[in-house]
Amino acid sequence: MATTSDIFELMRKSPMNDWVGGSDPEAVGKASMQIVHRLTPVQNGVSRVLDFGCGIGRGLVALRAMGLAPQEIVGMDIMPAVIDFCNQNIQRNLDRVKFELINDRNDHYDQFISKNDGKSREQLAQEYNGSFDIGYAFSVFTHVTKKDFAGLLKFVSAMMKPGGRFVMTCFELNEFSRHMIEHGQAIFPLENRVMHDDGKIMIANDYDPLAFIAFDRESVAQMVWDAGMAITKVEYGCWMGGGIGSSLQDVIICTKLPDLISRENIQMTALVDRSKM
Ligand SMILES: C[S@@+](CC[C@H](N)C(=O)[O-])C[C@H]1O[C@@H](n2cnc3c(N)ncnc32)[C@H](O)[C@@H]1O
Repeated sequence: MATTSDIFELMRKSPMNDWVGGSDPEAVGKASMQIVHRLTPVQNGVSRVLDFGCGIGRGLVALRAMGLAPQEIVGMDIMPAVIDFCNQNIQRNLDRVKFELINDRNDHYDQFISKNDGKSREQLAQEYNGSFDIGYAFSVFTHVTKKDFAGLLKFVSAMMKPGGRFVMTCFELNEFSRHMIEHGQAIFPLENRVMHDDGKIMIANDYDPLAFIAFDRESVAQMVWDAGMAITKVEYGCWMGGGIGSSLQDVIICTKLPDLISRENIQMTALVDRSKM
């Protein structure tokens, strides 16, 4: 049986590590999973976890290397080769981990897909309906069109339990990031950027629009809400410069709308009686 260290070693040797962003897979995976575990604590033997756009599994292997063993982790991706890598090297060696190939397209990743026999979004949404307490997507929503952003959020939301939390990274256009970009402070080369959709979308370059795509804050909030979730926390990354943020990309926590409870079961906080003051 290969250990998590052995699996990271296989990732280092694989050219696919560059397809999913490069750098050391163990360091990248660990950094992402520390964020997930801090924001949505993973419960051993209990949580059901979705790694959406899992690539070669850097995140979920890091989660297991950190000693966290949820009840189940499901990794999903659209690239057959990365899912093959995960089935060969991860699924065989780690229990309670499985992978699903999604039959989908992405202009930035289609060069790595020749034939895709995966399951449709609809099929997976039905199969995993309301299954996951925790979901995460690292560097996925930084590479999708607006139509896919909205559609993928609905897909993920269908698979989350009510009250479950989905942690996604993206690049958010807001007053601060726009100001920093305009003043050349961003830590990505954005001098060839192109604005679309009345300034609500920014791409870093026209020749590979999905290599880096940023969305306006209001649009992101609306898409999350339309998917049946609400943004319940945001941690900004340092991509826009200025030395703020603990991670590179912005981290957005979306909570699947919880089941509503009856008024008599709500534990109200007592108010101070000011009538006698
Ligand atoms: C930059 S890589 C990050 C991979 C992984 N999350 C990690 O941090 O190592 C982006 C991943 O998103 C996947 N992806 C792109 N479009 C997708 C879609 N529509 N549905 C699911 N995954 C998608 C890609 O195939 C790729 O593996």
